[in-house]
Amino acid sequence: MKSSRRIVAFLFLIAISLLMIRLYYIWTTIAPESSCMPQPRYFTNGSLILNPVRYLIDTCVDEDQCFGWGDRQRAIVTTYLVSLLSGRQFGIYMTNPCALENFLAPNKLNWIVKKDELDSLCTRNFYMYNVHLQHNRQHQMIETADFQTLFPEDVIYFHTAQDYLPSIRRNKLTADKIPWLHRYTLGEAYGYIMKLLFTPNNNTQKTVTELLSKHVKNQTLVCAHVRMGIVGFDTLRTPKSELHVIWDFLHRYNDTNKYKLYVATDMNETKAQAKKLFRDQIFDTVGIIDQMHRSKSCEVFRRVIVEQEILTRCDILMLTQSTMGMIAAFTRNTNNGLYCFYKERVFPCTIETLHELHNIM
Ligand SMILES: *[C@@H]1O[C@H](CO)[C@@H](O)[C@H](O)[C@H]1NC(C)=O
Ligand SMILES: *[C@@H]1O[C@H](CO)[C@@H](O)[C@H](O)[C@H]1NC(C)=O
Ligand SMILES: *[C@@H]1O[C@H](CO)[C@@H](O)[C@H](O)[C@H]1NC(C)=O
Ligand SMILES: *[C@@H]1O[C@H](CO)[C@@H](O)[C@H](O)[C@H]1NC(C)=O
Ligand SMILES: *[C@@H]1O[C@H](CO)[C@@H](O)[C@H](O)[C@H]1NC(C)=O
Repeated sequence: MKSSRRIVAFLFLIAISLLMIRLYYIWTTIAPESSCMPQPRYFTNGSLILNPVRYLIDTCVDEDQCFGWGDRQRAIVTTYLVSLLSGRQFGIYMTNPCALENFLAPNKLNWIVKKDELDSLCTRNFYMYNVHLQHNRQHQMIETADFQTLFPEDVIYFHTAQDYLPSIRRNKLTADKIPWLHRYTLGEAYGYIMKLLFTPNNNTQKTVTELLSKHVKNQTLVCAHVRMGIVGFDTLRTPKSELHVIWDFLHRYNDTNKYKLYVATDMNETKAQAKKLFRDQIFDTVGIIDQMHRSKSCEVFRRVIVEQEILTRCDILMLTQSTMGMIAAFTRNTNNGLYCFYKERVFPCTIETLHELHNIM
């Protein structure tokens, strides 16, 4: 009797907690009021700045659920496009699990944020995470928003993990503010934005060129990205029982004079299996293998960045279901030598069909 009452009380508490979490998300996704109004800003000589720079900053800090590198790249693309629509300067503030600048440097556009310079301004955090029922509403909001007037604050710290490109395309402002977007497919837009924003920093560059020049001489570089997923934590992407299909595909390249092999994966066991099967051809980089959104290790982040950079340089590239792999294909920017693994088959595919197949953007 007593214990059943306890169970009821416990269930009641859980229900209340779930409700609170739900309300919190609804509130943070649509909260309309601003926490401050922008104040006039002055030059050091005292004269008024007439059109002060305003900022839209892709944010991923310790208390955020930033998820994996693929999710973060989606967030970066969304935020960059919204910065164009809203006429704001774009920045990236990523400190989880360590600063993005440890691995990547700005290419054509400087996205580095000097946070202390922004601290005196009127700022706001804006959250747009995928909470099931909210998702359609968020897309609708992106489609219809007048981003030039939506936020009054000087600095918006934008927190998301989703791709909103199709909704951004449908926004009325896009034809004027981002005309090129209407001529690019999703894959082309991602590839273009990734190259515009990022280049490997000196460290990453050194790691990748040393690795490739050491291991790949005159051979063709064959790569597979085998995203496994972690049971109970993530969706299962590639069942272990189907790995043999991928190994069979790689066996076609079993000629050490002609081919070198790189297998990127999120599971130690899969990496070990590949190394054992293809020990004469395979090479590897340093860093810990794990899921970015589970791990708090900078070494995991390093490996993901280095592996994605390698994937963009492969002559043959075979991909499983993964945003990180897909974005590597977008940046690699050719359908030549591109293969998809799907439902126990490996077949030649294209950047666009890869995207349609997995439907994870
Ligand atoms: C103050 O500095 C700004 C920017 O350097 C300049 O544009 C402005 O003309 C200066 N005003 C006066 C009064 O010197
Ligand atoms: C890389 O190193 C060179 C000189 O060693 C330096 O000039 C350059 O700024 C560095 N680039 C980056 C992105 O750190
Ligand atoms: C690759 O071919 C060699 C002989 O050409 C054979 O000994 C080896 O077992 C093959 N390896 C795999 C992984 O098929
Ligand atoms: C690469 O070079 C090695 C020795 O220099 C040679 O044996 C091999 O056939 C070459 N491979 C290709 C694909 O040209
Ligand atoms: C892989 O092994 C490393 C080193 O033992 C460990 O830190 C990491 O958590 C392992 N990764 C996974 C996904 O289990």
